[in-house]
Amino acid sequence: MKNCCPPAPAIAATVSLLLVFAPPSSRAQDANYDEARVPEYVLPPLLQFEDGTPVKTAEQWPKRRQEIFELFAENVYGHVPEKAKEVKLKIDVTQAVTDFLDDKASMKEVSLSFPDRPDGPVLHLLVIAPKKAMGEPVPAFLGLNFRGNHTIHPDPRITLSESWMRPDKEGRVVDHRATEKSRGASASRWPVEMLIDRGYALATMYYGDIDPDFDDGFENGIHSVFGQPKETEWGSIGSWAWGLGKALDYLELDALIDGTKVSVIGHSRLGKTALWAGAMDERFAMVVSNDSGCGGAALSRRQFGETVKRINTSFPHWFNDRFPSYDDRVGDLPVDQHQLIALMAPRPVCIGSAEDDQWADPRGEFLSAKAASPAWELFGKEGVEVEEMPPVNQPVGETISYHIRTGKHDVTDFDWKRYLDFADRHVK
Ligand code: GCU
Repeated sequence: MKNCCPPAPAIAATVSLLLVFAPPSSRAQDANYDEARVPEYVLPPLLQFEDGTPVKTAEQWPKRRQEIFELFAENVYGHVPEKAKEVKLKIDVTQAVTDFLDDKASMKEVSLSFPDRPDGPVLHLLVIAPKKAMGEPVPAFLGLNFRGNHTIHPDPRITLSESWMRPDKEGRVVDHRATEKSRGASASRWPVEMLIDRGYALATMYYGDIDPDFDDGFENGIHSVFGQPKETEWGSIGSWAWGLGKALDYLELDALIDGTKVSVIGHSRLGKTALWAGAMDERFAMVVSNDSGCGGAALSRRQFGETVKRINTSFPHWFNDRFPSYDDRVGDLPVDQHQLIALMAPRPVCIGSAEDDQWADPRGEFLSAKAASPAWELFGKEGVEVEEMPPVNQPVGETISYHIRTGKHDVTDFDWKRYLDFADRHVK
């Protein structure tokens, strides 16, 4: 059992919301924001097998990669239960229109469901593709969204999500359900026209369709199908990442999409998820982590901003049940997050931070990207080779992109432009 005494869902949801929406000053009052107080630390070696022998060639990388992957599954994100690895979801295209975005794009809604569970969870995937995809499949970005597919663009033809939602500050969610007022509410984070104009499709799915984001003792979402996770099996991040793989299974079949050119992207907790999805599934051509912070791109051992202990306390359902055993001894973790980034090698990866998002430790994300770079060097590729953290708004990196932009914890057009430029260079 993941949680011996799960609190009533409503209470658990309220507690977790208070933590999510608490002002940074109160939720982070005990957090360290002082470089001088970052403890001395030694990162677990990247290019060394667990038996101590060095990793020197690209041919040796898959074996080392597997070792690191297993350590992350065992100690942090959890293993995917066998049943979930095997399951094939039923695909239904529920809506398709060809005059989206002033006739520039097509829009399709696809539901992915469990064939043996007609009453079970349904994952709703929205796919928007440029018109030219009708002649030739296009590359795509796939990412989970926080508030329902209908929030990424105001077009009323996108189906309003009926799933459980976290309340929002603006009151667009009532009794945990989205209202019409929430249409387009997250559009600034999803510049659909920019993607379409640059020749990319966008596929997105509400993360709560996979597992609603509160600590309910793993009763709902896909856990209702696969059952209670064991100690080292997945938490919510693991199941959200699994859902991204299922969406990719579909995209591989969609004639509009080039399934070999799908980049996975995510912001914040969904940036952590995108990294773990890219680690689990090497079919993703490029991986983008935006402001993912602790448990994402940032080094845990720095204990700057959000710490392992803090994240496990605030969000006990995100990781597996072994991770909290490192709360007070992060130095004993057999992995650190530079190794998570390295699991993407030799594929391109983008790490985006924001200046005012110290909770996510931008410097820790930079150092992590840098410490991951030797994995790319094995393949004759360059990761992040600069010595110093770059100034704001000046991306660096060859096959690993790193940038810190001005502004707050968010996904902006600046971030997307960098990710699209990088995809143009490496994926298109
Ligand atoms: C909280 C949490 C972070 C997370 C963020 C988010 O701030 O502490 O770890 O990344 O929520 O997902 O918005």
